[in-house]
Amino acid sequence: MHNLLIQNGHIIDPANSVDEISDLLIIDGKIAKIGTNLIADGSKKIDATGLTVTPGLIDIHVHLREPGYEHKETIATGTAAAAGGGFTSVVCMANTSPVTDTPEKVKNLCDIAKRNSEKRDSPKTNVYPVGSITKKLAGEELTDIQGMLAAGAVGVSDDGVTVMNSALMRDALALSAKLDFPVMVHCEEHNLNAGAVMNLGETSRKLNLMGSPNAAEDIIVARDIMLAEMTGGHIHILHVSTAGAVDLVRSGKQRGVNVTAEVCPHHWILTDEEVEKQGTNAKMHPPLRTQRDIEAILEGLKDGTIDAIATDHAPHTPYEKALGLKDAPNGIIGLETCLPLVLTYLVDAGHLTLKEAIAKLTCIPADIVGINRGTLSINAVADITLIDTQKTAKYDVEKSFSKSRNTPFADWQLKGWPVMTIKEGIPC
Ligand code: DOR
Repeated sequence: MHNLLIQNGHIIDPANSVDEISDLLIIDGKIAKIGTNLIADGSKKIDATGLTVTPGLIDIHVHLREPGYEHKETIATGTAAAAGGGFTSVVCMANTSPVTDTPEKVKNLCDIAKRNSEKRDSPKTNVYPVGSITKKLAGEELTDIQGMLAAGAVGVSDDGVTVMNSALMRDALALSAKLDFPVMVHCEEHNLNAGAVMNLGETSRKLNLMGSPNAAEDIIVARDIMLAEMTGGHIHILHVSTAGAVDLVRSGKQRGVNVTAEVCPHHWILTDEEVEKQGTNAKMHPPLRTQRDIEAILEGLKDGTIDAIATDHAPHTPYEKALGLKDAPNGIIGLETCLPLVLTYLVDAGHLTLKEAIAKLTCIPADIVGINRGTLSINAVADITLIDTQKTAKYDVEKSFSKSRNTPFADWQLKGWPVMTIKEGIPC
C-alpha cells in the first residue's frame, strides 16, 4: 500500500488548470484526492509548505547508452540522474549498440529497464524506448515500425543522424498517419554539415573551425514538415536550434500540420561563443547558435510554437571529450540541470509562467509520445515532483548520478531545484 499525504504544497497541474495551495492524497500509488485539510490516518505525511508540487517531469529525449556504451551511461545511472533531476519518465533514443531497430531489441530494453526498476534502492524512473526509423540508423531501409510499437516503443527516431532519403521519411510518416505515433527527427542536412564541429559564424571563422550553417537544419525541418503535411503523419522536431526552424514550425502549425517541436536548455541559454570558452563541453549536434536564434526560440516557447522542453541528455566520458573539438563526440548531459535552468532562465527571467514551464515538462511531452502520465488527475498514477523554487545552489557535477561529467553548466549558480521525486506514490 503506497499511501502518502503531501500537505500544504503549491500544486500546479497544468492539464487540469490547477494552481493552488492544497493537500494531495495518494492511495495505492494513485492520486486519490486534492483539497484542503485532508486527513488520512495511517498515511505517511510530507510537509510541502513552501514547495511546489507538480506531475512527475517527463523528458522525451535522452540517451541512456545501454546496451553497448555502458562506459558512458547505463539504464541504472541514467535513471538515477533522471530521478535526481525530478524526472519520473524518460524516453530513450535508439542510437545504442546494437541500434534499437527490431521488436526484440525494443523488448530487451524494456526488460533491462524493468529489472533495473525492480532492484532494491534503484531509482524507479519509467523508461520508454523509441525504435529507430531505419535499420542500423543507416538511412537505407525502414525498420519494422509496427512490430516495435507493439513491443513497447513510443515512437521512432534516428536521432544523432538525419534520414536523408525523403522517400523513406514519407513512408515512415504515412505509417504514422495510420498508426498514430511520433516520427522524431534529427534535422541536419549531412552534406551541408559535413566536417562541421560548431555553428558557422563569427566564432567558427575566428577559431578556424568548420561550421554548420542554420540552413543545414532549416532545409530538413522544412522537408519533414512538408512530408507530414502530405501524409498526415505526426512529425516531432527534436532539439530545435535555429530561428528559421522556429518559423517553419510556426507556419506549419498555422496550416494545421501535425507538427510538434522541442528545445533543449543549452540552445536557449548559450551561444556559439561558448565553444571558445568551454571547448568540447559546448560541442553538440545541432550546435549552439547565436543570440538571434535564442531570441526566436524564446518567442517560440512563449507563443506555443515550441511545445516541449527536453534535455538530449548525451553522456560521453572525459577521455572522449578530451579528444579535442574535431574528434570529440557531440553532446552534453542535461537531466540534473534542466529544471533549475528552466526555473532560472525561463520562469525567473519572465519568459514563461511557472505553469507554462511545467506544462512543457509534463502533460505536453506526455501527449507527444502518447503516454498516460504527466497529470495529477484523480486516479492518475501518482508520479510527482516536489520543487523548491526558492532554493539557490551551485550545480556540482562531481556529485552527479550520471556516469559522465560533460556539461557546460558546472558550478553555475541556479535558483529552483527538485527536492523529491515520487514514482507511483513512492519516493525514489
Ligand atoms: O549532441 C548530440 N549528441 N546530439 C545528438 O543528436 C546525439 C547525441 C548523442 O547521442 O551523443
